[in-house]
Amino acid sequence: MGKILVTGASGVVGRHTLLHLLKHKSANQLVGLVRDPSKAEDLTAKGIELRQGDYLDPEALDRAFVGIDKLMLTATHAFTDRNTAHSNAIKAAVKAGVNHLVSMPIMRKPNSAFTMKEITEEDIFTKKKILASGLAYTFAEHPPFLDNIHFYIGQRAHETGVLVPTGDGKFTAATRDDLGAAHAAILAGIGHEGKTYRLTGNPAISFAEIATTLSEVTGKKVPYRAVSEEEYTQIKAAEGWPAFVVDFAKGWVHGMNTNEWAEETNDLETLIGHKPTSPTDFFRKHYITA
Ligand SMILES: NC(=O)c1ccc[n+]([C@@H]2O[C@H](COP(=O)([O-])OP(=O)(O)OC[C@H]3O[C@@H](n4cnc5c(N)ncnc54)[C@H](OP(=O)(O)O)[C@@H]3O)[C@@H](O)[C@H]2O)c1
Repeated sequence: MGKILVTGASGVVGRHTLLHLLKHKSANQLVGLVRDPSKAEDLTAKGIELRQGDYLDPEALDRAFVGIDKLMLTATHAFTDRNTAHSNAIKAAVKAGVNHLVSMPIMRKPNSAFTMKEITEEDIFTKKKILASGLAYTFAEHPPFLDNIHFYIGQRAHETGVLVPTGDGKFTAATRDDLGAAHAAILAGIGHEGKTYRLTGNPAISFAEIATTLSEVTGKKVPYRAVSEEEYTQIKAAEGWPAFVVDFAKGWVHGMNTNEWAEETNDLETLIGHKPTSPTDFFRKHYITA
């Protein structure tokens, strides 16, 4: 029987996907693609084979994808050549005779005009490449990561208050653990070919509601204050982020404030078989001790 390969196995989403796959499949059916095997020794210890390869090295991808039946294409980093990286992986999957490819584009509203440098255009490009490849595919569309929320509101938001540019839109967010569990369910299951899942968390929440939730879980008033773009730039710069990353954060916040990820679906819950981690659960368990 062909194996399941997950790219980006040294990263958070890829690792969670493989760890959840272990609940469905034996380790000898699983493979992780890594650039540096020393970064995923925990997976080797669980019996998962690691194959070395870089998205920018097509020959290495050809070698790594031999004997692979299903492939999870974990999206690569912003601020790199994501188009070439994803395109190389898709081409290698076709060459290797992969039977099913799962990818994780960012969710978009139907007919959305929202664009975000480094993310949206590259994800649209990747989807088109997959559709043109002839591969059987599943699009596991992602909302913003809940466990990355500190990037937008600050690691100490429960002390400083939630200070973000003006906007009353809502957004859903999901943890990378829940998203990895959904990927595993798709890869280990049957009947997911040709489908698009919108893996939203629940409920959608605004930044003002995040402050209310933080107040509830900490037991003290956490203010929400809408700040100007200029003040937000200063806040993020003071946290040590370079200007291009500050702009990136502003792009995400703009999408959140304008309801780009406001839709709630049951796709994530259905795939993982339980309610996804809610913002309240997440803040209670992780954030206030961060
Ligand atoms: N929805 C959201 O809110 C959101 C937010 C941020 C990012 N994202 C997207 O989600 C993706 C996964 O997130 P994550 O948290 O799991 O990221 P992560 O922990 O940084 O993992 C990214 C993985 O991609 C691998 N990778 C990078 N460049 C590669 C290359 N040239 N060839 C092969 N592998 C390469 C990394 O390998 P190394 O360990 O060798 O670097 C790592 O394993 C990100 O890459 C980004 O596209 C989504």
